[in-house]
Order: sequence, then structure tokens, then C-alpha cells
Amino acid sequence: MGGKITTIEYDENVVEQAIKNFKREGVAETIEVKTGDAQEIIPQIESDRFDLIFQDVGDKRLYPLLFDDCIRVLKPGGLLVAEDTLFPVMNRFKKSHEELVESINKFNQMVADDPR
Ligand SMILES: C[S@@+](CC[C@H](N)C(=O)[O-])C[C@H]1O[C@@H](n2cnc3c(N)ncnc32)[C@H](O)[C@@H]1O
Repeated sequence: MGGKITTIEYDENVVEQAIKNFKREGVAETIEVKTGDAQEIIPQIESDRFDLIFQDVGDKRLYPLLFDDCIRVLKPGGLLVAEDTLFPVMNRFKKSHEELVESINKFNQMVADDPR
């Protein structure tokens, strides 16, 4: 079957646990873990690299900031999957998460307006 996964994580404890899990499950050879801030790492990745990106960070302010670079590193026809982008529509945010609504709305508008 083949295939490779690259994952980006800046919390070293999470990285350590993830690597343990990957080894335990026998998939460490197929998963490259990049340790650091996605905002710094993604711009350094060459274009047209991935078939699919799964974006899942709690800080949704990153979504609109990383959008163009995510599209750039996707192959033509690739898929960008972003977690939790319908919470504002469903009115599912807690009060403490209200500041994230603006970023998600901005991201959703960027997706809707983008022909890619
Ligand atoms: C919701 S968790 C998802 C983790 C993983 N995708 C999973 O399914 O187990 C979000 C993760 O993003 C990491 N994170 C948040 N901001 C980041 C950033 N700017 N760069 C890299 N990782 C980040 C957090 O440390 C956290 O582990």
C-alpha cells in the first residue's frame, strides 16, 4: 500500500508519547514527526507534497494564517480537512472560546472564496 505521514507538534511531551505510540503500533517507519511550531515549519516545506492535510489545532487563529501555505504544499486535487470549523454555525462554542469564532469564520470565508 505504501504512503507516508508527516505530523507537526510543538509540545515535546506530546511528541514523546506519539513516538512511543507509533513504535508500539509498528508504524514509526511511515510517520515522520516534525517537532516545532507549524507556523514556522509549514512555510519551509516544498510545494505539491501532500495528498491530504488534516489540520487540528485548538488555536483556530492558525487556520486562516496557514491556509495559503497548506494549499501550496497540497498536490493539485489534494484535500484539506480542518477540524471544528462548523462550531460557530452550530453555535457550539463556550463563552471562553468566543475569540476563536472570528478566526473560524475568516477561514470558512477563505475556503468558500477560493477556487482551489
Ligand atoms: C487537538 S490536539 C490534536 C493532536 C493530534 N492531532 C491527535 O489527534 O492526537 C492539537 C495539538 O496541536 C498542538 N499545537 C497547537 N498549536 C501548535 C502549533 N502552532 N504548532 C504545532 N503544534 C501545535 C498542541 O500541542 C496539541 O497537541
